[in-house]
Amino acid sequence: MPLTFAFDVYGTLIDTAGITQSLDRLVGSQAALFSSRWREKQLEYSFRRGLMQDYVDFSVCTREALEYTSNQLNLPINENDKATLLDAYRHLPAFEDTASALKRLNDAGHRLYAFSNGLPDDLESLLSSAGIRDEFLGIVSVHEIRTFKPNPAVYRHFLQRSSTAANQCWLISSNPFDLLGGQSVGLHTAWIQRSQANLFDPWGKTPDLTLASLTELPESVN
Ligand code: 2OP
Repeated sequence: MPLTFAFDVYGTLIDTAGITQSLDRLVGSQAALFSSRWREKQLEYSFRRGLMQDYVDFSVCTREALEYTSNQLNLPINENDKATLLDAYRHLPAFEDTASALKRLNDAGHRLYAFSNGLPDDLESLLSSAGIRDEFLGIVSVHEIRTFKPNPAVYRHFLQRSSTAANQCWLISSNPFDLLGGQSVGLHTAWIQRSQANLFDPWGKTPDLTLASLTELPESVN
């Protein structure tokens, strides 16, 4: 029976560690700290914008989070270098396990979509430059309904855009907040726990599957 797969992008398909390499040149030994603070603040801004119903697109959250992190760590970055870092977000590599897992799911007749907070154009260029765009039937961006994950409305929007019933849909993500959002509307969920240091939130709910990478995904779903 063909299933529909909604793949989160940043941190699930795409390795955002590539940003740390770009930061190395600018902030040296503080690159890993800068990168993780930047990601945390980017997501915090998306949550706050969603809760306030004061939407700006994810590239604005990313840019303003960069500004905040530079000020917070007292690591000034000039406008040129900021533009280079923001452009790097559109050209990050896929994880090594991504392409083969997507191909095996396609070969098994399943329906694959990218599903993200990112802007449609940014996602098109990101997935194309990572060499995996053609594995997807489509890209569903939360930008289409002007709010962010984990608002339950974005998961319902995905189901409507992909013409899928919730019980035929798997949400694949490395982000627990995303999986809890998907579970709230009845999606099956697979957590890609790429590091043992990544913890699931103690909300009394667990994902249907927990996998260390995408490699095991094709034989784990049915
Ligand atoms: C996404 O790609 C933010 O990782 C999250 O939507």
